Amino acid sequence: MAAFRAPAAPMSRQILVTSALPYANGSIHLGHLVEYIQTDIWVRFQKMRGHDCRYMCADDTHGTAIMLRAEKEGITPETLIGRVWDEHTRDFAGFHIGFDHYYSTHSDENRALASKIYLSLKDAGLIDVKTIAQLYDPVKNLFLPDRFIKGECPKCGALDQYGDNCEVCGATYSPTELKNPVSAVSGATPVHKDSEHYFFKLGACEAFLREWTTSGALQAEASNKMQEWFASGLNNWDISRDAPYFGFEIPGAPGKYFYVWLDAPVGYMASFAKYAADNGLDFDAWWGADSKTELVHFIGKDILYFHALFWPAMLKNAGYRLPTAVYAHGFLTVNGQKMSKSRGTFITAESYLAQKLNPEWLRYYYAAKLNGSMEDIDLNLDDFIARVNSDLVGKFINIASRTAGFIHKNFDGKLADGVANLELIGAFQAAASDIAAHYEARDYGRALREIMALADRANQYVADEKPWELAKKPEAVYRLHEVCTVALNCFRLLTLYLKPVLPKLAEQVEAFLNIAPLAWEDSQSLFIRHRINEYSHLMTRIDPKAIEAMVDANKQNLEPAPAPAPVRHAEAQAHAAQPAAASAPVAETISIDDFAKIDLRIARIANAEHVEGADKLLRLTLDLGDLGTRQVFAGIKSAYAPETLVGRYTVMVANLAPRKMKFGMSEGMVLAASGDAPGLFILSPDSGAQAGMKVK
Ligand code: MSP
Ligand code: ZN
Repeated sequence: MAAFRAPAAPMSRQILVTSALPYANGSIHLGHLVEYIQTDIWVRFQKMRGHDCRYMCADDTHGTAIMLRAEKEGITPETLIGRVWDEHTRDFAGFHIGFDHYYSTHSDENRALASKIYLSLKDAGLIDVKTIAQLYDPVKNLFLPDRFIKGECPKCGALDQYGDNCEVCGATYSPTELKNPVSAVSGATPVHKDSEHYFFKLGACEAFLREWTTSGALQAEASNKMQEWFASGLNNWDISRDAPYFGFEIPGAPGKYFYVWLDAPVGYMASFAKYAADNGLDFDAWWGADSKTELVHFIGKDILYFHALFWPAMLKNAGYRLPTAVYAHGFLTVNGQKMSKSRGTFITAESYLAQKLNPEWLRYYYAAKLNGSMEDIDLNLDDFIARVNSDLVGKFINIASRTAGFIHKNFDGKLADGVANLELIGAFQAAASDIAAHYEARDYGRALREIMALADRANQYVADEKPWELAKKPEAVYRLHEVCTVALNCFRLLTLYLKPVLPKLAEQVEAFLNIAPLAWEDSQSLFIRHRINEYSHLMTRIDPKAIEAMVDANKQNLEPAPAPAPVRHAEAQAHAAQPAAASAPVAETISIDDFAKIDLRIARIANAEHVEGADKLLRLTLDLGDLGTRQVFAGIKSAYAPETLVGRYTVMVANLAPRKMKFGMSEGMVLAASGDAPGLFILSPDSGAQAGMKVK
């Protein structure tokens, strides 16, 4: 006698998921994608399970770096972050990252929430004001963040080290300890200057943090790391920066701005606030102190400190809910080494897609390597090619490509009405809960190993049954129908299990099998008595040449370029206005059409700097207004000190084919005059001319 049990209705969870907010001062690269792909797979899995899961993200837009970069490009920070937002969302969409909302930290919602949280902390007595001395650039009138100060390491004396740590001996220190510091912004020697700063008293939150960090919200390895931090003592956190700063002014503190890391995590809330307002959700039900929903943050291990200490302490003391989980992952290496611009392994998302490489190949490879821990993961490019070709094309797609044709040719596209032997399909169905548990635990590698083991069994079945031979024997027609139906059942279930990783491919398969979007519970149903569509090719193999081309495209030419061509180019830039030979009064005549081919433009010299190791060249950053900026190497060092050029307007050839030079890409040419008499003279337009104007 069996006790009656109602089938357990799957409890629907409400889960708010985030990935870290990428900085708006750089492109998305394959390292970032470890995180966004990992999160996206988890979110898609939860949605397939029928949970109410919302994936929030945004660009992290504030700080000195973004302010200075905008200034360098001659645009406002708002214009810069708008452009980067377009680029980031385009790249993420290219890798099928399915955010429910992608916002910006430079939003009204974020300003309001950051201010509100700050005021709550202040009311709770957790804000301190203290005067501290910091390095200040007296030319730019700017307090310098650590990354913008260079000097000699106080420990080992290595030259040209950043203000926070030494890349030679690994020492960490405060920038005021650097010897012979210089501002990386202006080259000036920084001075010490006092200023009032606002501090969040993290030390006062220690008891709460000790408890929270061991409450199960963190991975064990992360929780252990926390104990080290507690042991070395919690410092109060400096949350203010002085003007000029691109960010939010602190309420009641004119000229003081929230440090970017204060409003960045609040950006998770702000992204949701906007989304909730647009979609009729109740913000407080998700963020209120007694929220019943889950809040899950995916982050890289480098930003654990912010998410495991500052963030929960802020939430707690401002009366909000706490994260349910903070999941940290490791860093990406390529071919076993740190991503490197010179090796071409600092690979941008854009350059991957530009080679027409399928984004799902990378999703699959990363998934195969991820195991829910903080270990680094390696993208070995040879292994990537081999793995994807063998698993996805050789094992998975193969099952459909070897059987679907018979369903069409012999059975008018219809699957059998039933199958006599359910052993294989039964085994596939039984795997659903195990595979789900691995996805849930972010052990995607293990999930994929189980899925590929099933694919091996299906391939073995097809190899044993040999449908191509059955098709030759009229008496085996029922058997043929059954074998192909079983194989396509297996294929459907493999597609379902792979769908969080390969959402686009799953969509194509759903169209081919003529079925509704697969949900996890569909794993328990049988796929019979159904008309499928004709099979057409689903996925190609990776062409190693495309990988090579991608690596080449990412190589920044630090190696010497073949002489003398680039040298000629540099000379030509310096002497463009000079006729080929001094004796020839004028060059050969050209037609007006020839002249029209030359796109001459007014350029504003946004930046000019010396090029290490170059005798004649200056590196110019030219602002062409709406046309963007260009880097040009010009042979004018003998005539101009770089700082005298910044801000000047000149004329450039904007459609000269870019040239790879020893020191980098040169994307055009600046016009300058020279003759027998000494001197070199760059051309300038009359005042009033605007960057980007055409010269005709
Ligand atoms: N803006 C901060 C996050 C603020 S969250 C409130 C930031 N931005 S980032 O652009 O530098 O990084 C975004 C995420 O990508 C981080 O979680 C970071 O760990 C991750 N990764 C950046 N480079 C990475 C690798 N090379 N490998 C793996 N993840 C990496 O940090
Ligand atoms: Zn050192």
